[in-house]
Amino acid sequence: MKDKILVTGGTGYIGSHTVVELQNAGYDVVIIDNLSNSNVKVLDGIEAITGIRPVFVEGDCTNIDVLRKLFEANPGIKGIINFAASKAVGESVQKPLLYYRNNLNTLINLLDLMPEFGVKGIVFSSSCTVYGEPDMNPIDETAPIKPATSPYGNTKQISEEIIEDYIKSGAPIKSILLRYFNPIGAHPSAEIGELPLGVPQNLVPYLTQAAAGIRKELTVFGNDYNTPDGSCIRDYIDVVDLAKAHVIAIKRILDKEDTDAVEIFNLGTGRGLSVLELIDSFERATGVKVPHKIGERRAGDIEKIWADPKKANEVLGWTAGVPIDETMKNAWAWQCKVTQK
Ligand code: WQD
Repeated sequence: MKDKILVTGGTGYIGSHTVVELQNAGYDVVIIDNLSNSNVKVLDGIEAITGIRPVFVEGDCTNIDVLRKLFEANPGIKGIINFAASKAVGESVQKPLLYYRNNLNTLINLLDLMPEFGVKGIVFSSSCTVYGEPDMNPIDETAPIKPATSPYGNTKQISEEIIEDYIKSGAPIKSILLRYFNPIGAHPSAEIGELPLGVPQNLVPYLTQAAAGIRKELTVFGNDYNTPDGSCIRDYIDVVDLAKAHVIAIKRILDKEDTDAVEIFNLGTGRGLSVLELIDSFERATGVKVPHKIGERRAGDIEKIWADPKKANEVLGWTAGVPIDETMKNAWAWQCKVTQK
């Protein structure tokens, strides 16, 4: 039997896909989630795909007593993958304390308890947002960290520093910081996917809702950027590819002795796609039209950013493999399933 892994935020979008990949790889999983941005029914989806229902604790990681009880009730947890965090950039500007409290207290509590309960490592969800507007693309892990433009982004920068300082102080743990680019798509089974509450802020859920007729049309935020077609460029990465990188990362921490105590990896495809190209690929892959119009730029948007994923490719032996058309088909299948419910 493989090791036991705690997945915080494990019923969320990226968390649930990672739980599936962990279970497929033979790991035992314990989830903690406060269900603030997810639904307990996600456990049914995970079970439908893997045949295994993970242990689930409904609770809030900002409460250290809740976490302590979890570790006591589930002995032998070897690693943590920490997804429990608030993630909406706009909301973080309105409610900064909520973001600092949730994202930082959760991390501090987990780090605090790790040595006591013999937990060897933590994989942390960081973000390409730490790079701000890059001076050049593709961007690798040595690029400078730019001042954060939102409290959300700041929590990611501060969290990276907290982990580094803690390990520098001699804490007997290891960590891998994964800087995600833009995760999209859904599991090919359409059993799990992204469940945005209210009006989606991110491109792909908005796009699929517009295609499904739930939204009148998608607004493309600006077509006067300094890019070939004028719309912004991102590195869109399939959520299943992303999930698989977490399994490799936790395995590396737990099974390999000779690695640095803190390692950082970009998780992206290495390919930049514009908003208009993404709409095209959705229409090509699904045969479904996306009603859309060109609108104003969105305040704070980065013009273009895409990853240099060479370090993850070479050191982790991980590559983003799902073709964009497949990702789009999966996003659409998930949207259709959610719409029918
Ligand atoms: C993508 C592109 C928009 C909606 C997010 C997170 C950020 C980080 C990376 C985690 C942009 C355009 C969007 C719409 C549009 N993730 N767009 N119409 O801005 O790259 O950031 O992922 O840390 O924190 O917020 O992602 O999906 O919001 O936008 O034209 O209705 O789509 O302008 O170019 P973004 P996004």
